[in-house]
This record gives sequence, structure tokens and C-alpha cells, in this order.
Amino acid sequence: MNLLDQLNWRYATKAMNGEKVAEDKVQRILEAARLAPTSSGLQPFEIIVIKNQDIKEKIKPVAWNQSVITDCSHLLVFAAWDTYTADRINYMFDLTNKIRGFENEGWENYRQQLLNSYPQKDAEENFNHAAKQAYIALGTAMVAAAELKVDSTPMEGFSADAVDEILGLREKGLRSTMFLTLGYRNEDEDWLSSLVKVRKPMEDFITVIE
Ligand SMILES: Cc1cc2nc3c(=O)[nH]c(=O)nc-3n(C[C@H](O)[C@H](O)[C@H](O)COP(=O)(O)O)c2cc1C
Repeated sequence: MNLLDQLNWRYATKAMNGEKVAEDKVQRILEAARLAPTSSGLQPFEIIVIKNQDIKEKIKPVAWNQSVITDCSHLLVFAAWDTYTADRINYMFDLTNKIRGFENEGWENYRQQLLNSYPQKDAEENFNHAAKQAYIALGTAMVAAAELKVDSTPMEGFSADAVDEILGLREKGLRSTMFLTLGYRNEDEDWLSSLVKVRKPMEDFITVIE
């Protein structure tokens, strides 16, 4: 299958069969998320990988009782930074210098520019900016899953405050933004599995400016 076939094959799976996704596949999906681009390369989010069934059972009622939360093999919680701090910004700039093995004046000036702007901004504004980066990574992970014929569900349908509480995210300076379940579709139980994919026609979607 080429990429477009894979994107047509995937759908937001509503029921999974409980089969476990092999760890090497999960690692490839997580690596795709790690490789996703982020604003200034700050990677302002983390992914919590939940395999534990008890934790999934605790999350289900605060996620509209969606059965896929407990049917899935792995529940990935994309958790964004609650704000940008000097330490968080410095960490990524220092890491870049270490990995690349040199310091660069332009790059250091850019570090100062970010240090002089983000940490002074409203935390909510910073969180929203960080959350957008997490969404890009989630999309990348979802495509990687489709390539491996692993089903997934992108999910926003949960109480973020309740999930933060269950996972103790606020203490770590994180806030849950989205879930991505991983597993294998249960075609008999999933009303959506046989329905045709619906998308706007190209002419309502694309504007070309010559
Ligand atoms: C940001 C976002 C939040 C979503 N939240 C949920 C959700 O909580 N539960 C669910 O079953 N599907 C959820 N979906 C899936 C969408 O409904 C689905 O992707 C859309 O209808 C397109 O269908 P397809 O992905 O099956 O092609 C979400 C998708 C996105 C991108």
C-alpha cells in the first residue's frame, strides 16, 4: 500500500479487539512522534504510554466511557508543557549544542530571543502553543501506525483535568491534550468499520493562487 492507501485504510477506530500491538511497532510509532517538527525545535510535550489496564479503567469514565480506551492495546496520552520556562528552553538549546558539537552565535541569539519572550507570556497562551505542537506529533504517529497496519483513534473526548489528576501530570508541569489509542479493529463490534470515509471534495478544500 502506498501512503494514500494507508490513509484511506485508517479510520478513527471505535472498537478494538484487545490484541496487543508488538513493542517494536509501538516503538516505531513513538519514534515517528519524536521526529515530528515543533516550533523552534522545543518539543514542548511528552507522551505517556499506558499499558496498565487498571489505569485505562480509571480513565474510561472521564473519557465519555468510550470503550476503545479499555479495548486498546496501548493508550498514548500526549501531554503538553503547562508553560515555557527558561529551563525548558535552555535544555533544548544546550542539547542541540551538545549533539551538534558546536556553539553558533546566531543560534545563541535566537535562544536569548526566546528566553526574552516565552517565559514572560501568559501560561495559558504558552500551553496552547505547546499543545499545537503535540497535535502535529499525534498526526505523525497516527500515520506511522497506519503504515504498520496498526489501528488508532485520535481522541479529544475526555476531561483533561480529570486525566491530569489520575496521571499526576500537573505536578510534572504537564497537561493532557489528546489521546491516541493503538490496537486492532474489532470489525464485528465497530459500527464505523464498514462505512465509507467522508471528506470534502477538493474544490471545497483547496484554493490555488496562481
Ligand atoms: C482532534 C480530534 C479529536 C477527536 N476526538 C475523538 C474522540 O474523542 N472519540 C472518537 O471516537 N473519535 C475522535 N476523533 C475522530 C474523528 O471523529 C475522526 O477522525 C473524523 O470523523 C474523521 O474520520 P476518520 O478519522 O475515521 O477518517 C477525533 C479526531 C480528532 C482529529
